[in-house]
Amino acid sequence: MKRVLSGIQPSGQLTMGNYIGAMQNFVKLQHEHECFFMIVDLHAITVPQDPAALREQSEQVAALYLAAGIDPTKASIFLQSHVPQHAELGWLMTTIANMGELERMTQFKDKSEGKESVPAGLFVYPALMAADILVYNAELIPVGDDQKQHLELTRDLANRFNHRYGDTFRMPEPYIPEVGARIMSLDDASKKMSKSNPNAGSYIALLDDPAVVRKKISRAKTDSEALVKFDPVNKPEISNLLGIYSHIAGLSVAEIEAKYEGQMYGPFKKDLAELVANFLEPLQARYREVRQSGELYDVLKQGAERAQEVAQLKLDDVKKRMGFVMPR
Ligand code: TYM
Repeated sequence: MKRVLSGIQPSGQLTMGNYIGAMQNFVKLQHEHECFFMIVDLHAITVPQDPAALREQSEQVAALYLAAGIDPTKASIFLQSHVPQHAELGWLMTTIANMGELERMTQFKDKSEGKESVPAGLFVYPALMAADILVYNAELIPVGDDQKQHLELTRDLANRFNHRYGDTFRMPEPYIPEVGARIMSLDDASKKMSKSNPNAGSYIALLDDPAVVRKKISRAKTDSEALVKFDPVNKPEISNLLGIYSHIAGLSVAEIEAKYEGQMYGPFKKDLAELVANFLEPLQARYREVRQSGELYDVLKQGAERAQEVAQLKLDDVKKRMGFVMPR
């Protein structure tokens, strides 16, 4: 049994990319491991958030965790801001990270590009993410491909700290799906599917109406070859749809290719649209139940209590090693 930790930002509508890249693995891993799954609200505010929208989106992500099948008796589900140890270790980690390595983070470069003023929090974000992971001694981190660089930095910071202050942190490993680690936009397969894309047709939101989803998939960009084949270099659009299909149907890419051999894209897209709609309908029904039941706050309270217990032990250890006077 390993310790697993991950988080999703409540910064917009969660997409099929978040589900396939991360959440689906959260559900899977909870059966074999000790899991901590957060709603990373402290990370979300590194770009401006409307307070009412942040509250709503935070509750949405928590309810989607439950609706997707994360079982609060198996995994601790909590809001990052309810566990102050994250912010405290995050500050300590900003003194371990260097400006140069933070400047190299592609997420920082993308989000700050062309902006006149960039919040300092956006810059030090990876130090907080490192703290999220290291404060639990987490070993397996289920994420999509775009978080790999942050995880490498986390390992570098852990190593540097261990070297300076003695063996303190365990090295975390990314846990990334083989297909679908990077679900791309439906309108442009060179960009990842993102909840912050202004064109809603580019992503499938987990809370999109099934009729809207059908339309989005039927309009998704394809090539003109009419050959259902996984070839991300030459056929990125179809390969992306194949990745989604494979995850939702639980079939291998080869099985799907065989199923549509000799057919045009029409039947493939139609079946994919049905599959996704049939997957989302029960998920959304459970989501509505969770939101109405009022159980969310109990789940979040329990999750935060458990998380605080574990995190405080590590934080105390870190502070002693760094030379802080501990209260007596
Ligand atoms: P965030 O909120 O951007 O995304 C949440 C998770 O979804 C994955 N993901 C995708 N996977 C495949 N295809 C896509 N198009 C796609 N878009 C998003 C992300 O890789 C991520 O796993 N920094 C993190 C949140 C975080 C975190 C952590 C994660 C904060 N602390 C500690 C793990 C451990 C983020 O911004 O994820």
